[in-house]
Amino acid sequence: MKLGVCYYPEHWPESAWARDAREMRGLGLSFVRIGEFAWSRIEPARDRFAWDWLDRAIDTLANADLEIVLGTPTATPPRWLVAEKPEILAVDAQGRRRGFGSRRHYCFSSAAYRAEAVRIARILAERYGRHQAITSWQIDNEYGCHSTVLSYSAAASDAFRAWCAAKYGSVEALNAAWGNVFWSMDYAGFEEIDPPSGTVTEPNPAHVLDWRRFSSDQVIRFNQAQVEAIKGEVPEARVVHNVMGFFTDFDHRALASGLDGVAWDSYPLGFLDRFDFAEADKARWARTGHPDIAAYHHDLYRGLSDIPFGIMEQQPGPVNWAPHNPVPLPGMVRFWTLEALAHGASYVSYFRWRQCPFAQEQMHAGLRLSDDTPSPAWDEVAAVAREIAALPEASGDRADIALVFDYESEWVAETQPQGREFSHVGLAFAMYSTLRRLGFDVDIIGPKDPVRAYRLVVVPCLPILDAATLDRLTETEALVLFGPRSGSKTAEFRIPDTLAPGPLGTLMGFSVPRVESLRPGTTAQVGGPTVAGAFTIWREYPRVSTASVLAHVADGTPALLAARNLRYLAGWPDEGLLRSLLATLAREVGLVPADLPDGLRLRRRGGLHFAFNSGPEMVAAPVPAGARILVGGERLAAGEVAIWQQD
Ligand code: GAL
Repeated sequence: MKLGVCYYPEHWPESAWARDAREMRGLGLSFVRIGEFAWSRIEPARDRFAWDWLDRAIDTLANADLEIVLGTPTATPPRWLVAEKPEILAVDAQGRRRGFGSRRHYCFSSAAYRAEAVRIARILAERYGRHQAITSWQIDNEYGCHSTVLSYSAAASDAFRAWCAAKYGSVEALNAAWGNVFWSMDYAGFEEIDPPSGTVTEPNPAHVLDWRRFSSDQVIRFNQAQVEAIKGEVPEARVVHNVMGFFTDFDHRALASGLDGVAWDSYPLGFLDRFDFAEADKARWARTGHPDIAAYHHDLYRGLSDIPFGIMEQQPGPVNWAPHNPVPLPGMVRFWTLEALAHGASYVSYFRWRQCPFAQEQMHAGLRLSDDTPSPAWDEVAAVAREIAALPEASGDRADIALVFDYESEWVAETQPQGREFSHVGLAFAMYSTLRRLGFDVDIIGPKDPVRAYRLVVVPCLPILDAATLDRLTETEALVLFGPRSGSKTAEFRIPDTLAPGPLGTLMGFSVPRVESLRPGTTAQVGGPTVAGAFTIWREYPRVSTASVLAHVADGTPALLAARNLRYLAGWPDEGLLRSLLATLAREVGLVPADLPDGLRLRRRGGLHFAFNSGPEMVAAPVPAGARILVGGERLAAGEVAIWQQD
């Protein structure tokens, strides 16, 4: 695994570059990412290019024997371009044009902007594509950051109409599919259709879902245009994009299918504080991050495709963008680096080299302080670089358990939650986290991926489950667990003719005629011979024909159904229910669940075994007798890591 850093030569005097580059090498870094926000300094006015500084920056880094990831600067269209073509700006749901003065202000649907992005990408590829130090390209930066996938511009409206016309052929077909007879929402032509915003109450969910699908497609299309521009100049160029944590506004699998590598930006403490975790969890894991946050994303993004994955931005200290921005526990930068290695990353790059004393991110840590002295992360990076160099190569293995994560399911759940706390990502994360606490490695896959190689497949929630998807998911000897609301909608966002869970219910012998969301604090006790706990947030009232019932709610309602190798959980499980259920299913397929302390996680990669402790209590790593310990020891304090080899 290579280590690198994000560097902005344009932020620093040229006199610092050569020393910076030497120090990067000295620290054990072998690559550097540059350029992704530098448009105004590359092209200060239309067609006036200032190549001299970038030529020298690239040569300086290359002369220090650093590989370079060169970014296309399209996340930051410069002021002159906005003045010249204001139509490139995105428009928010309230109809306000996004302003200049930060970043990501462009609209994915703007044909004018796409042409500009292609132009600058091609010019950069032409100039630098054959430079021996440039080993890959990063297109743009973090698509969708700052809520920018959805744009309600005139360009987006036009493109959406064309997208609908291509999908439905006739407006009558669209009216029928969406159910526009309801509330007199019929359209007489595609030109009458607007993006779903500004309505008095909720817009038609079928309209919203197609809008989300369309908006995702626009991101992929924008990306693809730049990929083609670069590969048109340099066919062998390796092209990547850096995606974000807990971000689902576009289909990352579709994006990955057009790339040579997937990177993600890992900010475990920022994500914990910013996203929907319980206050107690935010407090408990404030300085280490929740033990599953980084791992979940490593597994999710590794599983998008067979292309390599890595970390393009690794948190090096406090960030500036979460509601609260704590200092990581000493050792966490090293810990996160080794965790990425354990989960199959081929590189980790720290964000950023030096803390910037000006502009928006001056409170964001780097590997060096703004006065150019080392920050606390410095020694950790030096140490982990040496440790990684001393470790044997470890190639990846397939896990025994797969968890299915689907982007469209997230859009369906967001469009019609039917209960404030129902979160598709929340349920997927809870299931992942429970499997990891039971000591298992998990592959996260898509609903179209082959499942034959797994022993247990967990599908947290897959509302749109047509017969073809069901066939793919069930063409296996493995046990397959479906979570609540799976099969509850058709692709047109309707209730299936046979009621939920559609073809899954037909196959298993039950239907779900009634569901309810539960207020916080309301629970329904669930018990069966091998499972015990409660439903919270959501429960269903299945009507059973031939399925077996493996557990009931206290009032006698079926809670866990079984037929063939399939299981269906008719509610949102609390921790105890989820733990007992997943442990039972694991045992059924011959796996042995562990009962790890809440901060301890294990991971295998090739012949290497890893243990990570995020909790404040000292824990024992389960190192077997005769294993060769390579890093750490059997007792792990908070933030410590052990690595061992065993036959
Ligand atoms: C990322 C972004 C970087 C920087 C960083 C700060 O989201 O890609 O440019 O803003 O966050 O944590």
